[in-house]
Amino acid sequence: MCGIVAYVGARTAHDVVLDGLRRLEYRGYDSAGIAVLDGGSVDVRRKAGALGNLEAVLEAEPLAGSTTGIGHTRWATHGAPTDGNAHPHVDCRRALAVVHNGVIENHSALRDELTNVGHVFGSQTDTEVVAHLLEEELDGPPGGEGQAAQHSSSRTPEEFAEAMRRVCRRLAGSFSLVAIHRDFPGVVVGARRNSPLVVGRGDGEAFLASDVAAFIAATRQAVEVGQDCVVLLTPQRLEITDFEGNPTRGREYRVDWDASAAEKGGYDYFMLKEIAEQPDAVAATLLGRLGRDGTLTLDESRLDTRVFVEVDKIVVVACGTAYHAGLIAKYAIEHWAGLPCEVELASEFRYRDPILDRQSLVIAISQSGETLDTLMAVQHAKEMGARVLAICNTLGATIPRESDAVLYTRAGPEIGVAATKSFLTQLVAVYLVALYLAQLRGTKYGDEVAGVVRELAAMPSKVAAVLDTMEPVRAIARELARVPTVLFIGRHVGYPVALEGALKLKELAYMHAEGFAAGELKHGPIALIEEGVPVVVVMPPPSGRSVLHAKLLANLQEIRARGARTIVVAEEGDEAVRPYSDHLVAIPAVPTLLQPLVSVVPLQVFACELAVARGNDVDRPRNLAKSVTVE
Ligand code: G6P
Repeated sequence: MCGIVAYVGARTAHDVVLDGLRRLEYRGYDSAGIAVLDGGSVDVRRKAGALGNLEAVLEAEPLAGSTTGIGHTRWATHGAPTDGNAHPHVDCRRALAVVHNGVIENHSALRDELTNVGHVFGSQTDTEVVAHLLEEELDGPPGGEGQAAQHSSSRTPEEFAEAMRRVCRRLAGSFSLVAIHRDFPGVVVGARRNSPLVVGRGDGEAFLASDVAAFIAATRQAVEVGQDCVVLLTPQRLEITDFEGNPTRGREYRVDWDASAAEKGGYDYFMLKEIAEQPDAVAATLLGRLGRDGTLTLDESRLDTRVFVEVDKIVVVACGTAYHAGLIAKYAIEHWAGLPCEVELASEFRYRDPILDRQSLVIAISQSGETLDTLMAVQHAKEMGARVLAICNTLGATIPRESDAVLYTRAGPEIGVAATKSFLTQLVAVYLVALYLAQLRGTKYGDEVAGVVRELAAMPSKVAAVLDTMEPVRAIARELARVPTVLFIGRHVGYPVALEGALKLKELAYMHAEGFAAGELKHGPIALIEEGVPVVVVMPPPSGRSVLHAKLLANLQEIRARGARTIVVAEEGDEAVRPYSDHLVAIPAVPTLLQPLVSVVPLQVFACELAVARGNDVDRPRNLAKSVTVE
């Protein structure tokens, strides 16, 4: 949700932090702020609105040239996105500053308690309680002389870390926290629970951030901070403990992409770049999966093969676009592996009573690996004894870490808020899992599995072919820029594709868009059809399951007869649809189950172009954030 970055080193902290915030802005863009240590106090600049507003403030009122600083880009939860609610937040003495990502659930009780002992709050945020709690721990109640006045020169960084641990033990909810204090120059203290935090270790400098993107321009050496841990960071020193003070070690890793991967590279929007990267992302996710002997291996999955053999039910949990990938997984798993598969929104799964046991395999799909609802679903599933396999795009994120096993997609960093390349790679991953299950359980022969993997290997060039022919789709999108509604219909795996097409349009164009299972039309949605209503129809391949094609062709005729303006995405050479198509978008011939990899691409391009034509910023759609780390 929010983006956090902290820096300690030899460079000017506010420059480095600002650069990090630019790379994290996709996480939230309601307001932004920076704090640095400036001699006897902390100096803060913060401003509502996009990062550009903060940059203007920094220009007008420059910060001191400190080498210790923290920054934040906000997606508001508690308190409106105003200057006063922007982070960093300070204590009564302005001795310390703190930034936060997440939600402090017991903030209201803590605020009452702190107010009663004289703390004065300057914002409506839940975060500010942390600043005052740290003040209590480090300097005592406001008005008192405070520790600082007594022995500021003899204070050790451990004291700061211990204060953070004590505070964390009092907090309920989810949080990544980073703080600086005037008595501890060159020291940053951080903490995390159910929200991301990663250390970057450079040459004589160090970073603490929500995401490696913040420091990738300076270093690729990262250290994962575990759940419920506190970090003490100086340019040379990294100490991680649990909330009780027991030392723990973070997992060190090297980020395998570089700064250019998180830049626009000549495109107007990250989203356009990410759509264009899809062929490579699909190819990368497939790389090295098929052994020389033709068997499929999922190397990084830490699950014993027996688990895949013994499982009697699959449950997929995910949110947003990842949920749509899950809906498609169901068709593949049931068809190839012959296993029952349920798919559920993570937010719903947690609050009912799912029937799970040791024989159940839960697949959690998440690009970021930090979506809180999905994380909670994972924890719930594990408590019930189920094994959990994560499909994730972010190395070292919380969801894969909390799962029994992980299959990483290799989409590279996705900055555009609306998921595109991560969706295609999630599809590849679920196909691989379905085939792996089929291979181990013997529901498909080795040569059959290898055959499908070969078909998957041909997909990057087919996706590229779709991308090469998108100009007419852009033209339709521009024509439809002012319509009030667009409907999407599909059947079988085309149904989740219709849902995804509608979601993209809602997210980006802020217009009414809805996806339907075409078979449900007559049960209600067909009443929405009147003269000129645009309907995007996702046609299955005619030569696949021909009955599907015939049924959808009938639906197409029905809506056309009632005046719909039809935009039909169909396999090239599918002449049967031509008489009923106002606009025909041809996609390459592929097997039925794999068709979403090509049929969703025109819908992404359509939504992106339509939103741009409406004047919207497609990388930063209003009210949304890239990773939703609150409920
Ligand atoms: C947010 C994003 C969506 C994304 C969803 C799930 O809503 O805007 O694009 O699909 O979260 O995110 P995840 O990181 O779990 O895949």
